[in-house]
Amino acid sequence: MNGEGDSASVKVALLGYGTVGTEVARLLHEHAADFTARAGASIELAGVAVRRPDKHPDVPAELLTSDATALVESDVDIVVEMIGGIEPARTLLLNALRAGKSVVTANKALLAEHGAELFAAADTSGADLYFEAAVAGAIPLLRPLRESLAGDRITRVMGIVNGTTNYILSAMDSTGAGYSETLEEASRLGYAEADPTADVDGFDAASKAAILASLAFHTRVSAADVHREGISEVSSSDIAAAKALDRTVKLLAICERVNGAEGGEAVSVRVHPVMLPRRHPLSSVDGAFNAVYVEAEAAGQLMFYGQGAGGAPTASAVLGDLIAVARNRVAGGRGPRESAYAALPVRPFAETCTRYHISLDVADRAGVLSQVAAAFAAHDVSIAAVRQRGRNQDASLVVVTHAATDAALRSTVDEIAKLDAVHEVVSVMRVEGGEP
Ligand code: NDP
Ligand code: HSE
Repeated sequence: MNGEGDSASVKVALLGYGTVGTEVARLLHEHAADFTARAGASIELAGVAVRRPDKHPDVPAELLTSDATALVESDVDIVVEMIGGIEPARTLLLNALRAGKSVVTANKALLAEHGAELFAAADTSGADLYFEAAVAGAIPLLRPLRESLAGDRITRVMGIVNGTTNYILSAMDSTGAGYSETLEEASRLGYAEADPTADVDGFDAASKAAILASLAFHTRVSAADVHREGISEVSSSDIAAAKALDRTVKLLAICERVNGAEGGEAVSVRVHPVMLPRRHPLSSVDGAFNAVYVEAEAAGQLMFYGQGAGGAPTASAVLGDLIAVARNRVAGGRGPRESAYAALPVRPFAETCTRYHISLDVADRAGVLSQVAAAFAAHDVSIAAVRQRGRNQDASLVVVTHAATDAALRSTVDEIAKLDAVHEVVSVMRVEGGEP
């Protein structure tokens, strides 16, 4: 903190001036007077660190640097990290926190992998570590989990937390657009990560799921604890199979409080594509929008919805955090610390049961259905519903199962694929929500 009373100011180092960083700087400049009133101190941008200064002629030369380390070590109070990735962000933030500087970051990959180390550094020095923008962009979600619901027992968090994949799946569903062209558009709009495979392979959503589960269940969950499947295997056949049943395909993050070993509790955290009934509220979440359901024992069901990616929406969450940590510094206090006291074990994915939708092209003749049903029975996978539609000599057969383990389902599908009467396994996908 520099100065006293009316002249108090907090100095901010902005690391990164890309999709989000530029919007943070713009809004900080445009609303400076309001932010001063809200924080109780003027918030001064002391420097902007980038990788290639020559690419940023719009940043005043006296603020611009390629030396993020020196900027963090300078006379700043708050470090806002909008670089992304693990290094150098990790070292920069550890240095800042160890020096007692508060940190605001949107870096879910870093938090999901090195959160424990960062929280420990913040605890030791008494600095703040805020990260609302790391999950679901503009949506106020982490503060409700961290603070508003601290008096409740959360049982489940489930939602769409990656804008890029939702944008792609929505386009594939509504216009039949191809996967690559839609991904390019999501990157152009600033939704995708610097390396978009982080989005399409589910790494980004898995990092977010780890953060959500950690906050919801007061347990340290890291990215490695999350079962992860992306959307690169989702084909137009899957989308068509879903459409035929009035369903949509969405990539969901699902965090649950479940039964563990020896009567204790555990957590289950996973990210994978699912088929949802079209009337399910998450089915209508389109484009880069995110939506997250939270179920808590006393509060019941809560739903959070809004823009999950993009420069300005994400900057809104970053600036909310910036004002909060500035207020804390003005008041001489700090925000909530990490809460990991419950330390619940993470249940292996192999023990998690989900329902499945299997779409097959089969020969339309006597005995085929019983052969298929026998394969399910042989692997102890119980069938919930079967629909068959004839097409000349062939038929389209759709089977929806009761909850089964991944291993049991895979063995069943392997056996079915070998049956003479089965021409093709068109689509295999998990199912959530509603009747089969
Ligand atoms: P960008 O790739 O658009 O911007 C990254 C910025 O970091 C660039 O300005 C780059 O400099 C700078 N940078 C890279 N390496 C260094 C370095 N070694 N030293 C200093 N600066 C460096 O990223 P985004 O703005 O999209 O994302 C930033 C963070 O926000 C990430 O953690 C991301 O996951 C998160 N996030 C992003 C959202 C989005 O919609 N984009 C939404 C929510 C969170 P230069 O410009 O010179 O290359
Ligand atoms: N790449 C991320 C997404 C940015 O598409 O959701 C928001 O975290």
